Amino acid sequence: MIISYSKIIEGANFSPLAQTEVSYQAQQLICLDDSGYIARIIEPSDSDYAAIKQIAQANDTLTTLRPNQYILPGFIDLHVHAPQWPNAGLALDRPLNEWLDTYTFPLEAKYQDLDFAKTVYNDLVQELLANGTTTVLYFGTIHNTANLELAKACIQHGQRGFIGKVAMDNPDQTPDYYQDASAQVAVDQTEQFIQQLNELNQTTDLKQTPVITPRFVPSCTPDSLKGLGDLARKYDLPVQSHCSESDWESGYALEHYHMRDAEVLDHYGLLTDKSVMAHGTKLTDHDYQLFEKQGVAVAHCPISNVYFGNAVLPVKRVLTHHVKTGLGTDISGGYSPSLYQNMRQAVMSSRMLQDGVDNQLPADKRGVADSALSVKTAFYLATRGGAESLHLQTGKIAEGYLADMQVVSLQNDFQTETSDNIFEKLMYQTSKADIDQVYVQGERVK
Ligand code: GUN
Ligand code: FE
Repeated sequence: MIISYSKIIEGANFSPLAQTEVSYQAQQLICLDDSGYIARIIEPSDSDYAAIKQIAQANDTLTTLRPNQYILPGFIDLHVHAPQWPNAGLALDRPLNEWLDTYTFPLEAKYQDLDFAKTVYNDLVQELLANGTTTVLYFGTIHNTANLELAKACIQHGQRGFIGKVAMDNPDQTPDYYQDASAQVAVDQTEQFIQQLNELNQTTDLKQTPVITPRFVPSCTPDSLKGLGDLARKYDLPVQSHCSESDWESGYALEHYHMRDAEVLDHYGLLTDKSVMAHGTKLTDHDYQLFEKQGVAVAHCPISNVYFGNAVLPVKRVLTHHVKTGLGTDISGGYSPSLYQNMRQAVMSSRMLQDGVDNQLPADKRGVADSALSVKTAFYLATRGGAESLHLQTGKIAEGYLADMQVVSLQNDFQTETSDNIFEKLMYQTSKADIDQVYVQGERVK
């Protein structure tokens, strides 16, 4: 019996196979079912290829790509501050703690204004989708009404969001115009947001996931950290925070808790196999072991790290410790909404880590050996690495995976290239304008 599918895309695709390997298929039928999964992938050599294609043509459910178009998995952005979108590309001139006080907290405080929240969040969600990002792990603000608008924007425009009400109740490290009034308020509002989002989810097939979100150790009191750890356990939810992002941040935990910040978060039950910790530029081997043991993932944000990280995350070393790792834009610590730009920066920063940067030192003393990442590994981070971090069956063009995909055009197409060359050009040269189609859970959203 020949089954008909809800959509079929015919064309070439690239998909991650492993941390250092990418598969290429020159022509396949990617067949989607009506629950948004890739039900079947058909090869030209399969006996029913022509018949299934013909049925799809007759039903008007076939999309055939042009020769210079390629299907890739949608990207997963593991670290976005949605409210910071209006500051993207601005104000990157101060160290982290001053940047927060000077530029970031004043902007986030504005999300009390629901109209402002709606305008910004609708624009941001569409911008990320247009850049090929199909799943996003978002920090919101302290305001649940605005956080719900972010969830509504994700539903309306068709993006899979993981969304956190930011908890920040430490009066010493947060401004009085933008803080949770107490630990109890931070925890209660977080629980309220979980319930509100669960209600909103009744109205949609594209579920939005609430995330426990202590901003970072300095912003929180021990009481809020404890309460949030309890909520993470009670509801079995993902957790996100910043961990060992800068010298100042890791120094803060050492001074106030006499522990590393990773240990503080672990002490309060906030390091689980559903935790995603942003940056980690200052993590130690001991911390990597803790992350591996607890199943914690790292959101590598290479553009942001240039400004605030005080070091380059040694991604290869992190992967060697079997720590799950994906990529994040960290808008607006990172200026770009594009994970392509972040893949490039991940490769470039890793090359500088390997070679070193002090030209007064001899070559053999300048860098950290075996640090360079390939573009294939960067692609893995943006796809499967992110999906594994969020326990999602996506980030791959394969049967049984969610149909989260992007179709991109190769413009620089003047000579016959090997598939490896095409892949490299796509990774280095794709801009938003080259992303022709985006699908989330089988729905076309661009
Ligand atoms: N640490 C605490 N808050 C933030 C933030 O908004 N951005 C970054 N990059 N780091 C943080
Ligand atoms: Fe951040």
